[in-house]
Amino acid sequence: MPALLSLEGVEKTYWLAPNQTIAALGKIDLEVQDREFIAIVGPSGCGKTTMLKLISGILKPSKGRITIQGIPFKNSHRQLLGMVFQQPALLPWRTVLNNVLLPCEIKGQDLRKARALAKELLGLVGLKKFINRNPRELSYGMQQRVSICRALISDPKILLMDEPFAALDAITRFELTRLLLEIWSMKKNTVLFVTHNIQEAVFLADRVVVMTSRPGRIASIIDVPLPRPRKEEHLYEQSFSNCAKTIHQLLGLNAL
Ligand SMILES: Nc1ncnc2c1ncn2[C@@H]1O[C@H](COP(=O)(O)OP(=O)(O)OP(=O)(O)O)[C@@H](O)[C@H]1O
Ligand SMILES: [Mg+2]
Repeated sequence: MPALLSLEGVEKTYWLAPNQTIAALGKIDLEVQDREFIAIVGPSGCGKTTMLKLISGILKPSKGRITIQGIPFKNSHRQLLGMVFQQPALLPWRTVLNNVLLPCEIKGQDLRKARALAKELLGLVGLKKFINRNPRELSYGMQQRVSICRALISDPKILLMDEPFAALDAITRFELTRLLLEIWSMKKNTVLFVTHNIQEAVFLADRVVVMTSRPGRIASIIDVPLPRPRKEEHLYEQSFSNCAKTIHQLLGLNAL
């Protein structure tokens, strides 16, 4: 059985001008199994967003290849992918419900069925009463929940999340972290979650990919030794702090 997602010798160089290039991503080899939760941490500018854009097909690798279920990227793979960004990026003229339904409209799916699912998802994230509101009437954290529902509506096999909670206050951030784990335990998507927060990475992930500074390579992949479901008390366990410390040290070594 091939891995669900595989990056083999993937590199990305941006061309700025004929004689000016930026090597954003070094040589990346990574295999991700079905239903894994992977966190990616690394110094700013090391190519994390670039890596997610390559996986989602927004960008093409300069070298190497990316396969999903053993098959090199093709357009139909887009249906298997969902993406959540740091900014909620909702359309202000559409209601909450219609923002969530947008991917289904674009894909020409049965909207009656999708509407029921969208309402279910919005209920799950505590926004049942807000489905007919406009995004501007919602707090930032609520808007981010809507964007998570929008990514989940097409039940993506692979969910790519680029620092989705970075702009939130600590309490909302932890609340959404727990919510994400709850949804993940039901849906069992495969998640690649970029964060700068080591605790968040350890709390969420099965494995944490630690990257070096640009051009980003994988410094190490750390297995998180915590059972599931993850609980708040895990945050205070020795194995949690040991794991976080290892990642912290690796980042310190590789940021130089
Ligand atoms: N479209 C682009 N054109 C040219 N250079 C780019 C482009 N996008 C990113 N870069 C460069 O590639 C490098 C990696 O950028 P990327 O956004 O992937 O990093 P990152 O790890 O996501 O950083 P951060 O943690 O700050 O979000 C950076 O040096 C950046 O300046
Ligand atoms: Mg980034």
